[in-house]
Amino acid sequence: MRPETLAIRTQTERTAQKEHATPLFLTSSFVYDSAEDMAAAFADDSLDVNIYTRFSNPSVDEFIQKVCLLEGAEDGIATATGMAAVSACFMTFLSAGDHIVSASAVFGSTHTILTKYLPKWGIEYSYFDMNTPEVIESLIKPNTKVLYVETPSNPGLDIIDLEYVSALCKKHNIIFIVDNCFATPAVQQPIQFGADLVLHSATKFMDGQGRVLGGVVVGKKELIKQLYLYIRNTGPSLSPFNAWVLSKSLETLFVRMDKHAENALYIAQKLEGHPALNWVKYPFLASHPRYDIAKRQMNNGGGILTFELKAGIEGGRKFLNSLQWLSMTNNLGDSRTIASHPASTTHSKLTEEERKAVGITPGLIRLSVGLEHPDDIFEEIINALSK
Ligand SMILES: Cc1ncc(COP(=O)(O)O)c(C=O)c1O
Repeated sequence: MRPETLAIRTQTERTAQKEHATPLFLTSSFVYDSAEDMAAAFADDSLDVNIYTRFSNPSVDEFIQKVCLLEGAEDGIATATGMAAVSACFMTFLSAGDHIVSASAVFGSTHTILTKYLPKWGIEYSYFDMNTPEVIESLIKPNTKVLYVETPSNPGLDIIDLEYVSALCKKHNIIFIVDNCFATPAVQQPIQFGADLVLHSATKFMDGQGRVLGGVVVGKKELIKQLYLYIRNTGPSLSPFNAWVLSKSLETLFVRMDKHAENALYIAQKLEGHPALNWVKYPFLASHPRYDIAKRQMNNGGGILTFELKAGIEGGRKFLNSLQWLSMTNNLGDSRTIASHPASTTHSKLTEEERKAVGITPGLIRLSVGLEHPDDIFEEIINALSK
């Protein structure tokens, strides 16, 4: 079956009730037929048997299985949020004395873990600029264990050549982790380009309607086994209810991502050259500095675009205040178009210098393009710009 079909037809085994839609297994624990079965379940960590929902649950497993199939991964594990997925990876694969190399253009909370928490636990980090990947190899040290990137990055929409980075990781025996949240597996499959682990904030396009939080990591079986034990013991597990919502959402992921991308490209093209803007950035605009790489590793440009208002920070506030119906919120990947101002929200914890280094200028607006009629979205933006 093709991925579009697998996203719809992958389901937990039908119960005796003969339900059509996938059931929700809202249970904290599971029962056994005998004391011996119960003892066996606890004796062996690798047994494929449900014990307790912090360890595994059929609704959560269905969601994981779908993501594995879509990403082309051997195995996976789900988490309560995207940040739980990021931090579980760092905690599992890094120890005191280790070093991680990361793109500097990463989500604000990921940046906080790298720069504030990892050093506290004796783990060093080095940042590189997504636009100069040729410096990566010079940052790798004998104690480098993980290389981490987001592509496209949030919110700068920087793009990196996954094949190039994965070749470096293989050469130096480093675990290559990719946050694929902005693209989703409907648009880009990093494992195909050599990533060892792929993670998501499922809260975004995977849910697609701004309802639940969730995270997932998929990839090599031997790495997922270690992550599973970390999550099983420390507890950032995904709730079955959220997993059920997310699994149903994946049924529409491909059609949604096609429409998000179609709308985003239409708006990006129409906005380019607007007199109130310095520039418009979108992976599938020929003006994107990594357009060639985007075309090679992505099926479409995704649902996010950015632009910079000439009027800077004040212009940004005025633009947001001039919106009539478009949502002003920090989330993204929703059927509703969302405008946000990263400098004052998601990346406000960064210093002015740090923001500048990852391309977040005072007038930067991030648009998560929804599924409304593209002309309605465009007119709303143009009206706000004219004010
Ligand atoms: C690229 C990226 N990674 C990770 C996260 C964190 O995800 P969550 O909010 O589900 O913890 C986000 C959230 O915006 C994100 O955009």
